[in-house]
Amino acid sequence: MTLALRGEKLSRTFSSAAGDVHACVDIDIEVAAGELVVVRGASGAGKTTLLNLLGGLDTPTSGKVWLGDIEATALDEDALAALRRERLGFVFQSFGLIPILSAAENVELPLRIAKTPPAERDARVAEALKLVGLADHAAQRPTELSGGQQQRVGIARAIAARPHVLIADEPTGQLDSRTAATVMDLIGDLVHSQGLAAVVSTHDPLLVQRADRVIELHDGRVTSVTEKSMDASAPVSRTSEAEEPVPEEPHAPRTRAEAREQREGH
Ligand SMILES: Nc1ncnc2c1ncn2[C@@H]1O[C@H](COP(=O)(O)OP(=O)(O)O)[C@@H](O)[C@H]1O
Ligand SMILES: [Mg+2]
Repeated sequence: MTLALRGEKLSRTFSSAAGDVHACVDIDIEVAAGELVVVRGASGAGKTTLLNLLGGLDTPTSGKVWLGDIEATALDEDALAALRRERLGFVFQSFGLIPILSAAENVELPLRIAKTPPAERDARVAEALKLVGLADHAAQRPTELSGGQQQRVGIARAIAARPHVLIADEPTGQLDSRTAATVMDLIGDLVHSQGLAAVVSTHDPLLVQRADRVIELHDGRVTSVTEKSMDASAPVSRTSEAEEPVPEEPHAPRTRAEAREQREGH
């Protein structure tokens, strides 16, 4: 099977007057369809740099990025931009919504840029807003929505063009812990139900629990890779910030095994 996203020996060095900063060093990462990979690390560990390299927003000093069977690092700027539009969705910590546009118009924007025909655009916007649970908020502007709702719009915008890969850099960094948990639930559900390959960076331990794999970064290097057990009977620890269980979406798979079944059924 072809992996949806692959980074091979990715390094990125920033040069400044104060010297070189090795923000990413020889990082290997592989993400399959239907898989949620969390990149964890302290501030300055290299998370944003890695996600930017994987998403084609920055060029590695050395190493390669593959999106499916296409080597993104071998493309010229125009071809890379086209590939990004077609295959990648981005979610940002600060939501990145345009204040004067409604939720639906924000979701529609990348489809306009991609020149998706209007009828199809409307259908995809409606579908994406429904998937994030905001069908009834399509006409509202960002300031009329809560932080969690704004990030749901950000997620709807990222998935509207039906990308293969979702990249989210600290998507819950500006949300309170309970809202963060529901947004991460949503990302986990979408990854598994839509067969997305997702890379999400975070510090939040609750979010790490939803990962299929956790990659720990320290000073630009991978210090550990933890595969989550598919055994749903394993106890799940909680942090003191979120003592109440977070309600599950009705269609969320209850167990890892169910999640895998759903994925493989797609
Ligand atoms: N454009 C840049 N120029 C110089 N140094 C940078 C640049 N971007 C990031 N860095 C440095 O690279 C390291 C990793 O940064 P970053 O990827 O933003 O980490 P994180 O997202 O984990 O906080 C830090 O030391 C940071 O200062
Ligand atoms: Mg960062």
